[in-house]
Amino acid sequence: MSRTVYVNGEYLPEDEARISIFDRGFLMADGVYEVTSVLDGKLIDFDGHAVRLSRSLNELEMKNPISKDDLLEVHRELVRLNEINEGLVYLQITRGSDGDRDFAFPAEDTEPTIVLFTQNKPGMADSPAARKGAKVISIEDIRWGRRDIKTVQLLYPSMGKMMAKKAGCDDAWMVEDGFVTEGTSNNAYIVKGNRIITRALSNDILHGITRAAVLRFAREAQMEVEERNFTIDEAKEADEAFTTSASAFVMPVVEIDGVALGDGTPGRVAPRLREIYLDEMRKAAV
Ligand code: PDD
Repeated sequence: MSRTVYVNGEYLPEDEARISIFDRGFLMADGVYEVTSVLDGKLIDFDGHAVRLSRSLNELEMKNPISKDDLLEVHRELVRLNEINEGLVYLQITRGSDGDRDFAFPAEDTEPTIVLFTQNKPGMADSPAARKGAKVISIEDIRWGRRDIKTVQLLYPSMGKMMAKKAGCDDAWMVEDGFVTEGTSNNAYIVKGNRIITRALSNDILHGITRAAVLRFAREAQMEVEERNFTIDEAKEADEAFTTSASAFVMPVVEIDGVALGDGTPGRVAPRLREIYLDEMRKAAV
């Protein structure tokens, strides 16, 4: 079935959607994005994603072409039109096109491009992958210095994912100056006893919307949260590890660079946090 997508104010069949070849998202990766999950046909943490979108746009001095209320309406309409029960809504805003290629930003009155589409992912919440846990490799983090802005410059994360696949693994954790930054498309955590350790927020990592919710739930469940740097060696010796993202929620990590964590199966903390996250977020979905 052809999807209905949203492009610059119009709902269209996916094969009729068009943007310019001069669009700066295409030529310069001059754009930002958000991925919001859908459970039971409702949006998970829409507010969090809308707030981060505004921040990304502000940091890049890019115009926001749509109000938060209208954006919610477009998300809901796409979920309805495409009959999404479990899946994702992808949103991208670029600096648009003024009909040519130039390193300088286009004229002030250039309209941004806005595109949204859905991805149907039945079984995303009750995922066999999450029951099994993920295997990760470590790779050097060679991305740019503003990883807090959710830009569409995803070439290196995409290459990292392929390096992991070639090594027979699921994902890669990136390492800078000896410390883990994050996964290719998720935030990274280790668990020692009742303590969850994850890198503190800075320009070095994306400020995950799932991260914020999971750390809140962990604290409410009387777990200790320590926001600090950790190394791959420390991670290999941890009781457990996991990642968080809007597309995989809480995903246990069972192996790092060939070293099994614990008995090589998901431990106690990550599956529990996944359960709490899914329960609480379903209740608050809009
Ligand atoms: N990725 N770190 C990076 C580099 C990411 O790309 C993502 C999300 C996260 C987690 O952020 P959040 O919890 O807000 O999803 C952390 C999305 C899912 C993607 O690119 O598909």
